Amino acid sequence: MTALPQPAAQRPFGHLWRWTSNPLALLEEGAGRAPVFELRLWRRAVVGYRPDWNRSVLGDLDTFRSQGSLSGLTPYLDGGVVHTDVPRHAARRRDLNPHFSTRALAGTTGQLHALVDSALPSGPFDALGWAGRTVRRLLNLVLFAGRLPDPLLAEFLAPLHQPPPHPLLPRPRLFRQIRTAIDGALTDPPPGSLPAALAGLDGDAAEELRIALAAGYDTTAHTLAWGLWHLAETPGWRRADAVDAVLDEVLRLHPAGWLGSRVTHRDTVAAGVALPAGTLVLYSPYLTHRDPELWSAPDRFRPERFAAGGRPAWAYLPFAAGRRTCLGAHLARLVLRTALTAFCSGELVVLGGDPTPRTGITLRPKGPLWLARRT
Ligand code: HEM
Repeated sequence: MTALPQPAAQRPFGHLWRWTSNPLALLEEGAGRAPVFELRLWRRAVVGYRPDWNRSVLGDLDTFRSQGSLSGLTPYLDGGVVHTDVPRHAARRRDLNPHFSTRALAGTTGQLHALVDSALPSGPFDALGWAGRTVRRLLNLVLFAGRLPDPLLAEFLAPLHQPPPHPLLPRPRLFRQIRTAIDGALTDPPPGSLPAALAGLDGDAAEELRIALAAGYDTTAHTLAWGLWHLAETPGWRRADAVDAVLDEVLRLHPAGWLGSRVTHRDTVAAGVALPAGTLVLYSPYLTHRDPELWSAPDRFRPERFAAGGRPAWAYLPFAAGRRTCLGAHLARLVLRTALTAFCSGELVVLGGDPTPRTGITLRPKGPLWLARRT
């Protein structure tokens, strides 16, 4: 096994202590040493962030498998399409993709607009809390035709806002309750709704909906909170015609999916580095998006970089890429665009708060993020 460059470690724990206390600083130090580096966590992990690495790790689903990767550590993501590997993954995505396409979701836009309008705050509000509550209701509407009780959803999703180990702990009673509620939403759903489309799915539709909820909730809520913060900070960008560029830039600076993982199924080579079978392999949209060789002034909020539309290949990964790209990317963009556009009219100002990135299963602003909206 070839030894790779690595950030400073602490005996006897390797990088484990630094990983649990400040993984972003650890990753940034590693990235400063080499394009591919290793970490000594509870097991060896090899990390890369340049486009050639991303293309290998995300492009070859046969070699880089999901089973055994970090998502298996949390019951929230340990199932459904997230943990389906080749050869079944392709068929699963073929079944699911059409129901999450822009065209399939078009019918829900009127309801999403109405819900956001009815939820708009007036006066001071914490953008992080508001985004969480609103995204929860929006996802309930789209994924379950609004049929899940909001208090149950809130209880189910709350651990995703908390630091590890909370999202990693088993919660069998709560998971049984949510399963029963989703089974109910799949029984006799309104025609034309997503649950109606998935009810006929070959396989476990309730499981896929639970995974979509868990994968889509805090990712979308945290992105929305950051989006509102940036809109309030830069009033010149608070225009309906600029929302897509703002959103692209928010997703670049603060990719909620800051770290992804795979396990090699066979001996292989990626970006010139030999990886034995069974290696834990990490890719990091956070590092890729802040690499000065790929992005100019990467730490600055500059939506104009997206206004012209171009983005470097395998270097912009807010929703990953390849055949495992995020199932909910269109849904997330629709929800985020709808909510951010609603804040383009009236006044929006920053009152105070802490937008520093914090890591958990997803990246989040430390918060609170106090803003004020006035019409
Ligand atoms: C801003 C919001 C979102 C972000 C940043 C995001 C990001 C990502 C990323 C980076 C991945 C790849 C993970 C990996 O394999 O390493 C992913 C996969 C996935 N996402 Fe999202 N996501 C978002 C919203 C959603 C929503 C709303 C849904 C609901 C359907 C969703 C469902 C999924 C599923 C099911 C997968 C696994 C796909 C597969 O393995 O084939 N995500 N997402």
